[in-house]
Amino acid sequence: MSEATQGSVETVTFTLNDREITVPKGTTVMAAARLKDVYIPHFCWHPGLKIAGVCRFCLVKVDNRPKLEIACNLTATPGMKVSSVLPEVKEAHKWALEFHLVNHPLDCPICDQAGECKLQDYYMEVGKYKSEMDRPKVLKPKALDIGSELVLDTERCILCDRCVRFEEEVTKTGALGIFNRGDRAVVGTYPDKKIEHNYQDNLVDICPVGAFTSRDFRFKQRVWFLKDKPAVCPGCSTGCHVDVYAKPQVRSYFRLKPRESAVNGFWMCDKGRNTYKHMNQEQRLRFPLVAEGSVARRKTTVDEALAALVGRLLAANKEDVALLVSAQYTCEEYKTLFDLFVVKLGVSKVYQWREPTEDLKAFDGLLYRGDHNPNTRGLSEALKAAGLPSEVNNGFDELVRQAPPLVIALGPEVAFQFPSLPAQLKQLEQLPFVSLWTIDGAAANYAGLKHLLPMKGFAEKRGHYLNFEAKVGELADPFPAGSDDARDVTEVVAALGDLFAHSL
Ligand code: SF4
Ligand code: SF4
Ligand code: FES
Repeated sequence: MSEATQGSVETVTFTLNDREITVPKGTTVMAAARLKDVYIPHFCWHPGLKIAGVCRFCLVKVDNRPKLEIACNLTATPGMKVSSVLPEVKEAHKWALEFHLVNHPLDCPICDQAGECKLQDYYMEVGKYKSEMDRPKVLKPKALDIGSELVLDTERCILCDRCVRFEEEVTKTGALGIFNRGDRAVVGTYPDKKIEHNYQDNLVDICPVGAFTSRDFRFKQRVWFLKDKPAVCPGCSTGCHVDVYAKPQVRSYFRLKPRESAVNGFWMCDKGRNTYKHMNQEQRLRFPLVAEGSVARRKTTVDEALAALVGRLLAANKEDVALLVSAQYTCEEYKTLFDLFVVKLGVSKVYQWREPTEDLKAFDGLLYRGDHNPNTRGLSEALKAAGLPSEVNNGFDELVRQAPPLVIALGPEVAFQFPSLPAQLKQLEQLPFVSLWTIDGAAANYAGLKHLLPMKGFAEKRGHYLNFEAKVGELADPFPAGSDDARDVTEVVAALGDLFAHSL
């Protein structure tokens, strides 16, 4: 019950719900509660934004003080005794909720936020159930188009101000404000301003109710039917930590959301949010396609496709074989690939496959980087470990110029980040034999590609990426692959290794 120093950090010890807790000096009761996994109901407070203190919902009782106080703006002091569970506190929460619901429509059954709405959740917990409100609700504008990724329903807004602060503090675009007063107050954009940045869907994440909904996700699926697993966004070299939401029983992916981490804080960008779509059925390559001799390319099994590739490799000199590798695979996949082809089989021609228009130095100042690959660092490290040149370069044109007889190409997973991909696939079609390992279903449109293997997506495999500053991003808990024939590089290489062992 004192002020003390732990290492170089001054600390404060106080009591929350009869539990003694120690936090750095200056910590608010709300932040302290979060640090110690104690939950205090709140709407306007968010750990990634400044304190606003506007919702008056996070009320707590401090011993020997006459009135309840808001935990989000209450600094913990030594010996303070705080409760968030006393009956008088619960009663205050109940009335605060009643107030928030004065003008909030009761359209939960048709609201896209149902299932993850804080207002709904709290009401289930401490709601009055018998409202004392007998006046008609104030109606406000609905389904407003205020950004390319967003729909705003101002009627559902509880004026928590989170979105306004996000625009001011995080993106610094200041597009939103709360206009008018009293029950006419309404959230909206300033005249002539639209929300145009690459971080729009964070507004959906932080809005505690269904006022902001995502154009991409709304009405596609009820959230309680979805399963989520942690992964890393493959959209750029920042490697934001994310949760992937899917319905594995029908092999469908629905959305990505940011997962709090030291890499990305609480946010992710909209481009990154789109990096789930290529794993869905309609966009992915679902089975191998192989052309043999004069027989036209046809659908085949993975075993047959691998046997055909091994046959080609056995018939080729190691000088005839080249690898073309994009930086969109895991460190583990690169290691197994180079162990087999470079170390064991002696292949020395390894080319990096990069998007020619990318600007490696580009950075938007928040998260999004010009290197649109999740594992450029990991590929460099793996090349170095295999004794190959490891500096980042684009070897695509050189490979096409050399036109080796047998190319094994690890295609980019996130095709939309490779605008030159269609033109590049056309060039690969002209080469004698390319085995393209890819998840991109559009590759099947290039009939000159003689050997296509379907790959798993980032949410379907284990491994890790190294981001731009070599921080590890783990893929540890995969969904089942979206097609029975999909493999990761490690699995393909292991199968090829077995086939070689039996053939030599
Ligand atoms: S739109 Fe959502 S985040 Fe913005 S003020 Fe209203 S409730 Fe809060
Ligand atoms: S900043 Fe990069 S890693 Fe983060 S969400 Fe966007 S694309 Fe994905
Ligand atoms: S969370 Fe404290 S006043 Fe809103």
